[in-house]
Amino acid sequence: MVFSPGEPATGNRTEMCRYIALEGIDGAGKTSIQAALRERLESVGIEVVAVREPGGTLLGESLRRVLLDGPPVSPWAEALMFAADRAQLMADVVRPALERGACVVSDRSVYSSLAYQGAGRALGIDRVRRINEPGLAGRWPDLVILLAVSTRTGLARQRQADRIGSSGHALLSTVAEAFDTLARQNPDRFVVVDAERPRSLVVEDVWEAVGL
Ligand code: TYD
Repeated sequence: MVFSPGEPATGNRTEMCRYIALEGIDGAGKTSIQAALRERLESVGIEVVAVREPGGTLLGESLRRVLLDGPPVSPWAEALMFAADRAQLMADVVRPALERGACVVSDRSVYSSLAYQGAGRALGIDRVRRINEPGLAGRWPDLVILLAVSTRTGLARQRQADRIGSSGHALLSTVAEAFDTLARQNPDRFVVVDAERPRSLVVEDVWEAVGL
């Protein structure tokens, strides 16, 4: 158990807090699960800062528009913009929230860049990891909840496909495979949840993964 929500906030509150990332292919349901997790955490008295990548800062929201609805972007330009967005979010929002003892629940994280740009765009997972490291300054998510759905389900559930999400089945299946590999390589950090099931069951498993 990482949190002790019943305990009074003390000097080591920061150590009890978690940086939780929700990951998965487009259409996995991250946004809706993020809202449910936020509600559950708040109901036990934990301050939650919900963020999304790309976005969450002034710079990030501008980059989001360019990345998702803008002109064609070369693979490295794309990877560097995601890394820039993340660096800004870390500096402005995530780090300050963790330092004051809040819990950060993030819709996507650096692992999306490893899967989409590293594997999906074939830039190499290690190279994409390296360009992200300076902006993260050591703060990787403590817990990554991978919402696993088939590419068929992901594509079917997408309400409005963005520039990357609309790249099609081939990209999404490469990304899905990369997420699976990352989860296998980091069993201490990842929990894989079958997100093909009804939302209420997914939420229960996510809550169990958080371990409160
Ligand atoms: P998101 O808003 O989570 O879309 P969805 O809800 O459809 O999953 O993510 C936007 C898109 O950006 C999505 O196609 C994944 C992509 N993306 C990357 O390619 N690399 C990244 O590092 C991040 C954070 C997102």
